[in-house]
Order: sequence, then structure tokens, then C-alpha cells
Amino acid sequence: MNILGIETSCDETGAAIIDANEHQRRILSNVLATSMHTHAKSGGIIPEIAARQQGTYMIPVIHEALTKAHISSSQLDAIAVTHGPGLIGSLLVGVETAKTLSYLWNKPLIPVNHLFGHVYANWISDHTIVFPAVVLIVSGGHTDLLLMKSHTDITWLGGTCDDAAGECFDKCARLLGYDYPGGPKIAQFAKSGDNAAFSFPRPMIYNHDYDFSFSGLKTSFLNATKQHFPLLRKELTHIKGGWQQVAFGSQLSTSAQKQILYNLCASLEKAIIDVLIIKTLKAARKYDVNSILLSGGVAANQALRDTFAEILEKEKLSVQFVVPEKSLCTDNAAMIAAAGFFTKEKATWNDLEANPQLYFA
Ligand code: KG4
Ligand code: ZN
Repeated sequence: MNILGIETSCDETGAAIIDANEHQRRILSNVLATSMHTHAKSGGIIPEIAARQQGTYMIPVIHEALTKAHISSSQLDAIAVTHGPGLIGSLLVGVETAKTLSYLWNKPLIPVNHLFGHVYANWISDHTIVFPAVVLIVSGGHTDLLLMKSHTDITWLGGTCDDAAGECFDKCARLLGYDYPGGPKIAQFAKSGDNAAFSFPRPMIYNHDYDFSFSGLKTSFLNATKQHFPLLRKELTHIKGGWQQVAFGSQLSTSAQKQILYNLCASLEKAIIDVLIIKTLKAARKYDVNSILLSGGVAANQALRDTFAEILEKEKLSVQFVVPEKSLCTDNAAMIAAAGFFTKEKATWNDLEANPQLYFA
């Protein structure tokens, strides 16, 4: 069946068409427009501006998705749309568009939880995932562990008590003067650093539950950064444009200083990765799972992907390790269409509502 997926939970406007059956989910088109450039100067997403941009992008993006897929509206079998969690103004753009098209084209509507969208990015391919599976969701706003015994038997095992892992990456990058999303920047610096140079805390790593905490780690990173670069914060408040000017202007003029920065980033990345992996493996062993799935934007982190694979190999854990291709880890509409294929719940144009607080219902 051909499913149109629509994603507008944050700043992105996405539309995708997938051709889905029991064996395979194939992407026919996957179009994404972002308003991130308009938020750069403010240092974060401004919800109203994001929603206004999405209002103008939505129809052109859907049109492009249909055109690229060589599909007409009459060939669609369903419309899957993110109805939460997310920013209310942004969600409304996608939900109200999906309702309108469903009414006009007479197509069933499938409401999709954005977080399950991330999970189902793992089902965009022809590989077979064997249940039970432990799923680690690491997006910008969420860090959660799920146990999936089937598509309908899903249990939430735990999640973050404060910041999400992605949020920790973003806030630490912000401290260095980098805009959202900061994870890729930290990862880039980390590549040239020594990840054992700083011994950052691994919060809650050996607790008996499956919960996480990353806000303390962020504070440790801030303290270590200030210790080595005492002027950093002060400079950043004065110099617009961020770390580049601070770093190459007055602060990080020597290669030794740059190395400290790389070491800070590598040590931060390693601390986050250690916690995520230890907790996921603990759940995998306890529930004797056949598969471990990664999902969400932070799953695009190469060090996380590599370290996971290495540890599974070293520990001789016979589980299937699945992670979506990098472009499908961050927000996109193909994952919403894929989740739509596996969602039993249906909606109609007159009963679907956006729900910004939606979690694991
Ligand atoms: O799933 P996502 O695209 O959006 C949400 O639903 O929140 O995730 C965005 C998050 C951001 O925190 C971003 O910094 C992080 O994913 N991220 C990364 C990388 N790429 C994206 N974090 C670390 N390393 C990366 N390569
Ligand atoms: Zn997301």
C-alpha cells in the first residue's frame, strides 16, 4: 500500500510516500523543509515562527513528495500524520492539513506518535526484526527505553528524569556558542579528542532501574570548560556569531587549547555513550531479547553506533543490532509513514486532534 506520511512536530516540515507491505517498506520519496536558519540568531526554535513557516511549506512539500514518487492522490491508500508530542502550532499545521486531505481525497487517517515514528525508522528496509526487542529512543527531547514484545505489546521501561541525551549534547554545544542541533558539532570535535582526558560522571549508570539523568553531566562539562577557558562565557555574551570568533580570535589560539576543547567534547560524548549502552544492555539481558534497536537523532552519532556494535561483539551477546540509516534517525516523514503502516488505530477527519503532551499512551 502507498502511505503518505506527514511530519511537523518541531521546526521541520516533512512529507514522504512509502510503499509498504508485510515484508518491506520502500521509500518512494522523502521531502523535508526546515526553518532552522530563521531561528539561528535567537539560539533556539521560536514556536510561532516555526509554525508560520510550516504553514507556507506544507503544501509545496506534499506536492513535491507526490511528484517525486510519481504517485497521484488517487493511488494513496492512507495518510499517516504526527499528532504529538511536539509544539502545538507546528503539530496543528500537519494535523489540519492531513484532515483536509483525508476529507477531500476520502482516505483513512492514521495518527502517529512521533516517538513511535523514530522507532519505526528501523522497519524501513527489508530486514526482519525478531521480537522481543529493546528499543533505545534518543531524540532531542526524549531518552527512553522500551520493551517491544510485538507491534502491539510495548512496555515503557524507563526514561530521563531531567535532560535528554540529545538535550545534553545541544546545551553543551550552546555553551560553546553553537546553535541547535549541537550534537553533530560535539561529535565532530570529539573525533580529534581523547575521550579519557576528563572523567565526567556517568549519572545513574548502575541504578537498578532504567532511568537516566543528564543534567549533572552538563554542569560538569560547564565547570570543566570554565576552568580551562575562564573567559569563555563572558566573551560569548559579547560576541555575536559564537565560538569561532572566540576560539580563533582571543581564546583558542594555540593547538594545545584546541586540543583541550576536543578532549572535553570527546569525554562528554563518551560519558553519554557509556550510560546509554550500559542501561540498554542491562534491559536486553534482563528481558532476554533477540534484538536491540536504536532510534532518534542521537542514533546518528557514529561513535554511539560503533561502540554499541563493538561491545555486543566483545560480550558475545547474540542479539540482532539494528539502527536506521543516519538520515532516517533525525526527524523525517518516511518514519511516520512506516509507523503508520504498523499502527492499528485509525482516525477520521472529524475526530483527530493534535496532542502536544502525547507520550506513550
Ligand atoms: O530526533 P531528532 O531529530 O529530533 C527530535 O525529535 O528531538 O533529534 C535531534 C537531536 C538533537 O539533540 C541533535 O543534537 C541530536 O539529535 N543529534 C546528534 C547527532 N545528530 C543529531 N547528537 C549526537 N551526534 C550526532 N551525530
Ligand atoms: Zn524527533
